[in-house]
Amino acid sequence: MAAWTPKKIRALKGKGKFATITAYDAITASIADSAGIPLILVGDSLGPTALALESTVPVTMDIMIHHTKAVRRGCTNAVVVADMPFLSYQISDEEAMRNAGRFIQEAGADAVKLEGGVCRASLIEKFVENGIPVMAHIGMLPQNVKQSGYAYKGRTEEEVEMIMADARAVAKAGAFCVVIECATSTLAAKITEELDIPVIGIGAGAATDGQIIVMADMLGFNQGKLPKFVKQYANMRTEAIAAVQQYMSDVEGGTFPSSEHIYE
Ligand code: KIV
Repeated sequence: MAAWTPKKIRALKGKGKFATITAYDAITASIADSAGIPLILVGDSLGPTALALESTVPVTMDIMIHHTKAVRRGCTNAVVVADMPFLSYQISDEEAMRNAGRFIQEAGADAVKLEGGVCRASLIEKFVENGIPVMAHIGMLPQNVKQSGYAYKGRTEEEVEMIMADARAVAKAGAFCVVIECATSTLAAKITEELDIPVIGIGAGAATDGQIIVMADMLGFNQGKLPKFVKQYANMRTEAIAAVQQYMSDVEGGTFPSSEHIYE
């Protein structure tokens, strides 16, 4: 299979639906890559998901670089997108460019993702002009949680107009695709129809070109209630707990290690 590139992802527009996924380490990246996923996002959702942080807000550049390097090492064919964490692109364009550059140069990412529409369009344009492909992110923005909470978007005419404007702005600025998070399916459908780049939904209905999902959620690694928009495809947590308990019982009962696991 030929390696995916942001350009090839961009060319998926109008060619049918496709799936993308998040991964935070080499093992899960290699699982997704072996399954044939075209794009892996090292999402800052790794904060609450893998590091037990309260939200994505405390996630830093150093944490993201560390995890992006691991995903890169675990992955051969998929495009690796690094999520720019809170305050890594908001302070100044210069700092944003330096941080985006670190993801490409130091961590081996193929592209970066950042949250925001109209207010980020000029920065997206700068990244693209300087050779850094951008996945945009509109709709509900988790890094804005302290300001706006996690409510889904598109419930009022005003909100629909604002998010349509965000979608148009990031596409015009040169993003190769856009994630829309937690929005009404009507709004996501309207954006998908209008934009000429792939629109990738999470909690945004079935009409988008692509979907993205947090791998730990879909594999059932997490404890607790999942959001309505997640489909759980496996129950790895239950299976893993059973496996660890079996190992404990084998050790306690003297059946592990047995001759096949012993250097005589
Ligand atoms: O951080 C993340 O995993 C994301 C996806 C939910 C799109 O931004």
